Amino acid sequence: MPRVRAAQQRVEQALLRSLSGADTGAARLQEAMRYSVLGGGKRLRPLLVYITGEALGANPADLDAPAAAVELIHAYSLIHDDLPAMDDDDLRRGRPTCHRAFDEGTAILAGDALQALAFAVLAAHTNGLADATRVRMLTVLADAIGLAGMAGGQAIDLEAAGRASDPEHIERMHRRKTGALIRASVELGALAASTKNETTLAALRVYGGEIGLAFQIQDDILDVTGDTEVLGKRAGADAAHGKPNYPSVFGLERARALAREHRDRALAALDGLGQAATELRALAHYVVDRVQ
Ligand code: IPE
Ligand code: IPE
Ligand code: MG
Ligand code: MG
Ligand code: MG
Repeated sequence: MPRVRAAQQRVEQALLRSLSGADTGAARLQEAMRYSVLGGGKRLRPLLVYITGEALGANPADLDAPAAAVELIHAYSLIHDDLPAMDDDDLRRGRPTCHRAFDEGTAILAGDALQALAFAVLAAHTNGLADATRVRMLTVLADAIGLAGMAGGQAIDLEAAGRASDPEHIERMHRRKTGALIRASVELGALAASTKNETTLAALRVYGGEIGLAFQIQDDILDVTGDTEVLGKRAGADAAHGKPNYPSVFGLERARALAREHRDRALAALDGLGQAATELRALAHYVVDRVQ
């Protein structure tokens, strides 16, 4: 996908700007934030903002703020996900996790501060958008990461450790802990393009939710079949922590089939969008075919 590198470079600059405030006397915290955000990761969520927004006619520059905001949230979620109280992981993006490179207290605060920064970046984004649209964007992001979204999903994940899970339970968990932010990334791209068409927005929400679920299913599959070197995080971590995942609940082959089913539902949701959605379609394939 030709746009990938351009989008990665754009968001890298936007993230750098958001993290380059003057030293406030909390230099170690600032360093931990920069360590966890800059120079790593696939940048899938920002890519979704750019691809969706540009498909609907937005300029890339008008998408930088929402793109940076979703990646700041994602970075915060990874820092907290890796903490000893959660997944207790020591490797992330090929480097020591934040609490290993710094300390647990700093890692908790870095997550907190990145979450706040994401909303500050999004709120400061004007770009000629109507106030109602800007408020709606803030609400979309808040809803995606709170009790009904990522935090709720992570709570279900914690409770699931060491217990048997069933198909409905694990799907609900994955839609919330990972799907919700991916869906919000698509929706923010559309809203930043000032899309008024609620039918298009609804179709994009279905698309985002389905690729979000497929993305976490593939993450689970790679936890079983992947390689620590390639992943940049420990393979086999779910089994080591007694965490149910799609392969453990459904078996590997059925998990693969389900990832493809959700990808196909995402593709079907784009049917009414024609040529404009070509890159969104490519991205749906990437989510399932990726090896890292
Ligand atoms: C990992 O996300 C955590 C999940 C929600 C599955 P990514 O696979 O997008 O991680 P990075 O950003 O590329 O490191
Ligand atoms: C992470 O899921 C979900 C969030 C960070 C919200 P995982 O725990 O499976 O992610 P990895 O495998 O550690 O990246
Ligand atoms: Mg986890
Ligand atoms: Mg984890
Ligand atoms: Mg995982």
